Formats: sequence, C-alpha cells, structure tokens
Amino acid sequence: MSKVAIITGGGSGLGQATAVRLAQEGVNIVVVDVSEKGGHETVEMVKKLGVDSIFVKADVSKQKEVKNYVEQTVKQFGSIDYFFNNAGISGSGKFFLDTTSEEIDQIVGINLLGALYGVRYVAEVMIKNGGGSIVNTASSAGVIGQDSVVTYSATKHGIVGLTKSMVAEYAKDGLRVNAIAPGPTETPMVKTFYEANPEMKENATRGIPQKRLGTPEEVAELVTFLLTSKAEYINGEVIRIDGGFTNTK
Ligand SMILES: NC(=O)c1ccc[n+]([C@@H]2O[C@H](COP(=O)([O-])OP(=O)(O)OC[C@H]3O[C@@H](n4cnc5c(N)ncnc54)[C@H](O)[C@@H]3O)[C@@H](O)[C@H]2O)c1
Repeated sequence: MSKVAIITGGGSGLGQATAVRLAQEGVNIVVVDVSEKGGHETVEMVKKLGVDSIFVKADVSKQKEVKNYVEQTVKQFGSIDYFFNNAGISGSGKFFLDTTSEEIDQIVGINLLGALYGVRYVAEVMIKNGGGSIVNTASSAGVIGQDSVVTYSATKHGIVGLTKSMVAEYAKDGLRVNAIAPGPTETPMVKTFYEANPEMKENATRGIPQKRLGTPEEVAELVTFLLTSKAEYINGEVIRIDGGFTNTK
C-alpha cells in the first residue's frame, strides 16, 4: 500500500521540494496551503510523478481549518503515515520593540499555534492507526538566538519543545517526531525577506562556513530520510542543516 503524507506550506519552497522528493518514493501527497495557486501547482508536479494527490486549502492558524485538512485526508486516503508540519512565515525583520502586536500575533498564530494544532489532530489519527512519523520545521533561529527575528525565534524554539515533548508522551504509541533546523535556504520566503533586507543576505552568507545558502532539495532529502523507515530509531531529534552556521556560533 502506498504511504500518505500531509505537507503544510506544500505550495512553495521546502514544502514543495519535499512533496516532489516524497512522490519520487511513491508517497501520495496531501498539499495544505493558504495559497491555491501554489497548492495546485504542487499537486500537478507530484501527479506527473505518478502518485495520487489532493490540495486542501487551509490557514494553519485556524484550528477548524486544521481539523478539516486532517478529516479530508482520512476521507480520501484512509490514513496518515507522514506529516511534514512546515507552514511558516518569517516576519518583517524589524527589531522587537519596533514590531507591532499584530505581527507578533500573526507569527505566533501561524508558526507555533499552527504547528501545535497540526500535531494535535494528525497524531490522534496516526496513533489510532498504530503510529506514524512527523517532521516539524524549526530553524537555526530555533536553536540559537539571533537579532531581528525575536518573535520568529520564539516560535521556532517552541517547535523544538513540541518535538521533544511529544516523544516523551507518545513514542510508546509508535509515533516518531523530529525537527529540522535549516539555516538560510533559497526559497521564495527567503528571497522576499532578503530583498527587503539586502544587508542581511551578505551578513548571512559571510557567517556560514560553507559560504552559500542551502537549497530546498537538500532540505527535502533530509525530511524524506527522517519521515521514512530509514530513520526508524531517530526520535525527538532536531537536525541542523545549515552549512555549519549554528555550530560556529
Ligand atoms: N527558507 C529558509 O531559509 C528557512 C530557514 C529556516 C526555516 N524555514 C522554515 O521553513 C518553512 C517553510 O518556509 P519556506 O522557506 O519554504 O517558505 P515559502 O514562503 O517558500 O513557503 C511557505 C509556504 O507556507 C504557506 N503558508 C504561509 N502561511 C500559511 C498559513 N497560515 N497556512 C497555510 N500555509 C501557509 C505559504 O503560502 C507558502 O506556500 C517555514 O516554517 C520557515 O519558517 C525556512
């Protein structure tokens, strides 16, 4: 039987690249995104690789919409084997005291509450069916402190806590939960952020020992490894994929 994966933020960047990589392994893909354009684009891309795929539009910060994408997946495919809990936004890059409370609410709502709601509903289905594998997207900013991203960093440190504590509670039920902590990776989100803050791109590249940004395909390879049975005894880990960036801080 083909495996089934839900990918939030599947319409772009890391989510889209992972959808393609998992489809190459024969995994059926449920693409979840607020963007209909991106979501449908990914569905078309993976269908060309011969797997079954649907798009479910959802704003992950809205609990009802999260519940709905889980229900739609079960209705269509009967189970959930893999969950790439990945949708997120970066914020404006302003110093914290210049940040509006609306921006704080938005980043926390999408990056942290969205991830918590996702695990809440997906894990319930996985455990009922005997287990499953979850990868949450943290960030370099989830393992070290950085300026200009205080709220973002708080949400990504939250993702790390979610990952470790879920394992403490549910590994015994067949659940594996890991996180990835990518450094700057060339996705549309980062391009937009660096266009608004060009000096930060130069700084970022200078601070990476390998002197380049990561690629979505490199991250997709890691996520695919962690999700599948090749990583069967890896649980509660936060894997950095950042060209050595955070290890030299
Ligand atoms: N690109 C990087 O350098 C980098 C580094 C570390 C962590 N991350 C994290 O990786 C994840 C993916 O980022 P990306 O770089 O691929 O960005 P991206 O902007 O290319 O893709 C993010 C996708 O999430 C969707 N999305 C945004 N808000 C949403 C919401 N409320 N509900 C549902 N979908 C929503 C967007 O429409 C988009 O398709 C994010 O959690 C981000 O914080 C990215």
